Amino acid sequence: MRVGILTGGGDCPGLNAVIRAVVRTLELEGDGAETVGILGGFLGLITDRTLPLAGSAVSGLLPRGGTILGTSNRDNPFDFDGLIDGARVTGDVTDRVVATVRKHGLDAVVVIGGDGTMSIADRFSGLGVPVVGVPKTIDNDLSATDQTFGFDTAVGICSEAIDRLHTTAESHHRVMVVEVMGRHAGWIALHAGMASGGDVILIPEIPFSFDAVAAAITARRDRGKNFSIVVVAEGAAPAGGEPIFYRTVATGFDKGRLGGIGQVVAMEMEERVGLEARTTILGHVQRGGTPSSLDRILATRFGVCAARQVLAGNFSTMAALRGQRVVPVPMADAVAEPNLVDPQGELVSVARATGIHFGEV
Ligand code: F6P
Repeated sequence: MRVGILTGGGDCPGLNAVIRAVVRTLELEGDGAETVGILGGFLGLITDRTLPLAGSAVSGLLPRGGTILGTSNRDNPFDFDGLIDGARVTGDVTDRVVATVRKHGLDAVVVIGGDGTMSIADRFSGLGVPVVGVPKTIDNDLSATDQTFGFDTAVGICSEAIDRLHTTAESHHRVMVVEVMGRHAGWIALHAGMASGGDVILIPEIPFSFDAVAAAITARRDRGKNFSIVVVAEGAAPAGGEPIFYRTVATGFDKGRLGGIGQVVAMEMEERVGLEARTTILGHVQRGGTPSSLDRILATRFGVCAARQVLAGNFSTMAALRGQRVVPVPMADAVAEPNLVDPQGELVSVARATGIHFGEV
């Protein structure tokens, strides 16, 4: 048996641990089944760029961040727009994908990615390419699984950063605004803010008001706390307003890339509260570097589950954490409703009970 494996979408700590687990499980439980790494996400299938992955090729991968296969969040084979052999090609290039799969004699492809990658992968079965998925994202916004790997690492990085900002905020009597990732979900902000004692947490699921945030900071100052930490998710927006997107010289506002709300919150707080405010955007630091132990284990469990589905012929499924168990679920579940923070849920209620403000109107 020969199995392809690819990583698609943004990278995420733990991807290499999945690759390692898939290769080893196929070797050990699949009677020496071979794994072929596909380089650069779907582009590797389109342009036939691969790498043989024997067990020895995946040793030492557990602590390594990124993905040894490379990845891309472009290159949809059903709607391609890019360069192939130096020439611009647009449109459906799935015939190339099928040709690569046939050339390498792949019996299945394990696809590790987020909702976008999964929805593309799910369509492969219609082309006669059996697929099994592994969900990944630091955002933790996939409803098919109780947790995605990469999330715990990102939360740890943010928490450490907020701890550090605390001491300097206190020394200078400043408002420190920390902008974290998460796309349209507030999981990273909520967890990191709770873990490191943020005073205000702004998330996309709870529209906020600048006045309410300012009132919370002023109330703290009246209690003798001359500094505050505001953790803001990149997708958070004031009530009635829109999230903020990056602006690039080439394209103007890029509706696909959130970012910039932290600076707006800081400016509004300086004006309203009268304390100095500074912004820290943690950005891709949250996705880089070594995965936490929890993520290494979750990623390994997902990889083993995916390899076992391949061996069992249980295709168009995806590994998912349900309660305490990792189980296969239909791949289509990955692209169902996103997993968002419940404003009435237990976590938010616990945060409120410990004095965290959500800046709600
Ligand atoms: O989905 C993961 C994520 O890091 C989001 O939190 C963030 O909005 C986005 O990807 C950034 O994407 P890019 O790496 O393309 O800038």
